[in-house]
Amino acid sequence: METLIPTINRLQEVFLTVGAEIIQLPQIVVVGSQSSGKSSVLESLVGRDFLPRGSGIVTRRPLVLQLVNVPPLKERLKSENGNGIKQNAQNSYPGIKAEEWGTFLHSKNQIFTDFQEIRKEIESETNRGTGDNKGISPEAINLKIFSPNVLNLTLVDLPGITKVPVGDQPEDIEAQVQEMILSFISNPNSLILAVSPANSDLATSDALKLAREVDPDGRRTLLVVSKLDLMDAGTDALEVLLGRVIPIRLGIIGVVNRSQHDINTQKSLQDSMKDEQAFLQRHYPSLASRAGSRYLAKTLSRLLMHHIRDCLPDLKTRVTVLSSQYQAQLNSYGQPVEDHSATLLQIVTKFASDYCNTIEGTARHIQTSELCGGARICY
Ligand code: GDP
Ligand code: NA
Ligand code: MG
Repeated sequence: METLIPTINRLQEVFLTVGAEIIQLPQIVVVGSQSSGKSSVLESLVGRDFLPRGSGIVTRRPLVLQLVNVPPLKERLKSENGNGIKQNAQNSYPGIKAEEWGTFLHSKNQIFTDFQEIRKEIESETNRGTGDNKGISPEAINLKIFSPNVLNLTLVDLPGITKVPVGDQPEDIEAQVQEMILSFISNPNSLILAVSPANSDLATSDALKLAREVDPDGRRTLLVVSKLDLMDAGTDALEVLLGRVIPIRLGIIGVVNRSQHDINTQKSLQDSMKDEQAFLQRHYPSLASRAGSRYLAKTLSRLLMHHIRDCLPDLKTRVTVLSSQYQAQLNSYGQPVEDHSATLLQIVTKFASDYCNTIEGTARHIQTSELCGGARICY
């Protein structure tokens, strides 16, 4: 994700300058059965520990997590002191002396700089909305995380699919959770991360079943196979990961998240990623470069790029139209002027050609790779 940040920031600036709507990146929604590893996968994408995870029903309300890219603290302080870069309302967070922080819609003025506190707040807000006996609620918790290390992107964590009501759960818990999930994934601008554990049969995957309902052609569904480390001795997920069991157009990515024991012993995300790579090298050497949390993040970046590429023609048109409008206006003043639109066009054009090349390269790679079973990138 990190390489994408400067590019997208740059483009967002262009969009703002020409008065176009900011690029609406697809929101990424995780779907899967209870305890399949959805919250763990989201955390590894954000690169910070802050989501409640664990066995049983932990995520009981949707969490709409909006990531907001902000300049590094050093730059923000400089612009606050008035001797640095031009200040723009979007980028100034006066008084906030942290590199990364979070805020909740339900307690707008409170600034959380400690990510453990964010997790606690999610937990207590979950209880406020649903009671503390496993109840669920479709009412979302809205959390914003501000950081120089994130893309402007929305991620949605959802309760898992369950069949049998426990605690205060309603008789029709399965239907209620499904409805909640469908309300998020039927949005055509959402990318579905279907999470299915490697130790259960893919053919019975609740995640894929729901994804198919709203995305029958698989244009916006990516399959994440979690818990590769928990398969029975003598079995492995190779056939699944190669797309020979169920082909998935956008790809199938195997991951190893932290186990409950890792969570209890507070294993860091960094250590977990390192061990994940080692595991993949040992058990799936032929696939190791196309599996794991880091590869998942890269794949998502690529899919987001495709989306942006699709927005570019419109952006170019806007810049051109705006440019001739300005020119006409300026001509009427009879003054010689600098033409800034040329620079804007250059940025957009350069971006388009750079990334189309990269994307074509990747597309060729994907076409010939086994992962997608010869499928075309279509998002
Ligand atoms: P969710 O209910 O789908 O959000 O799943 P969580 O992320 O809360 O994870 C549920 C439980 O499974 C937790 O105890 C995690 O530690 C564990 N878990 C998740 N992914 C993996 C994995 O890849 N390997 C192992 N061993 N445990 C995992
Ligand atoms: Na869980
Ligand atoms: Mg969860």
